Amino acid sequence: MANPNIAFIKYWGNRNDALRLPANGSISMNLDGLETRTAVIFDPLFPADSVEINGKTAGVAAHARVCKMLDEVRTLAGIHHFARVKSENNFPSGTGIASSASAFAALALAATKAAGLDPSASSDHSGVLPGGGCFDLAALSRLARRGSGSACRSIPGGFVEWTAGTGDADSYAVSIAPPEHWDLTDCIAIISTDQKSTSSTEGHALASTSVLQSARVNDAPRRLDICKQAILNRDFAGFAIIVEEDSNLMHAVMMTSRPPLFYWQPATLVVMHSVQAARVKGLPVCYTIDAGPNVHVLCAGSAVTETSKLVGSIPGVREVRLAKVGGPTRMVENPPTNPHEI
Ligand code: DP6
Repeated sequence: MANPNIAFIKYWGNRNDALRLPANGSISMNLDGLETRTAVIFDPLFPADSVEINGKTAGVAAHARVCKMLDEVRTLAGIHHFARVKSENNFPSGTGIASSASAFAALALAATKAAGLDPSASSDHSGVLPGGGCFDLAALSRLARRGSGSACRSIPGGFVEWTAGTGDADSYAVSIAPPEHWDLTDCIAIISTDQKSTSSTEGHALASTSVLQSARVNDAPRRLDICKQAILNRDFAGFAIIVEEDSNLMHAVMMTSRPPLFYWQPATLVVMHSVQAARVKGLPVCYTIDAGPNVHVLCAGSAVTETSKLVGSIPGVREVRLAKVGGPTRMVENPPTNPHEI
């Protein structure tokens, strides 16, 4: 089981698209209560890999992306069997909450466990690979990253930093503070549930066409440092400024790419203005926006009732979904999908 996550300092653009080595590091929190649950079994009798997502056979592109990760797991574990994969989200797809992070984090853990690797062990006594190497939590985060960049941040719990690294071996995410460190809530303003016309993967490939991308990337260490310190010090005022600045910078890059990407809708901007006005009046709130029109309104625990009321009353906001800080990707006792029934 894995939660999606919301980035405070964003990942946008890769140094290496195939390996998903990011142009800059990023920081996020996991979203509690939103879950992808995935079951995997490998069996010598299966004639091919089969993939079911939310009760339906996966489409060609999703199937290929899942099989690529299964191939990596087979190589790591030294097995050759095909697999059956069954995955379910408890948040409907099309709610505008990115599901690729939780999907590939859950798949990485379920597939490696099913293949006999032991990623839950700590880094110094983890599963031993056929080649004699180790499979630890860093290796699990790296595997998830190669499936979907942001998925590497859903592997550890709480507040998480993904270090850009120098290559595949050191580009993975670690927890910088546990969920209970800071009582933050993400009040997600759902403005549209339409499928976005340009996927994140396509968007990353366009980032370098914006003249603003190099400035955004070069300044990332400063933003990462400020954001991390604000989290560690539970400094909401400092956090709010850097989180909004980072989101605005990413959208400035998107809007100045070739072709330009405009993910906002009119109601997106109305929410942004309302959040800033409320903060001026003393409410501890700020916004951040991913590759879509929906707005993640982050607030201190003390402000959840007032914030969700405010956001829910804005014309154009269809629904407000609340998520506190979530834990790590983990095996669950009673998965809704019994692998032996698939
Ligand atoms: C805007 O991780 O979804 O949400 O690696 O191609 O799957 P792929 O992209 P993805 O990109 C996330 C982009 C973002 C910012 C972020 O989460 O850091």
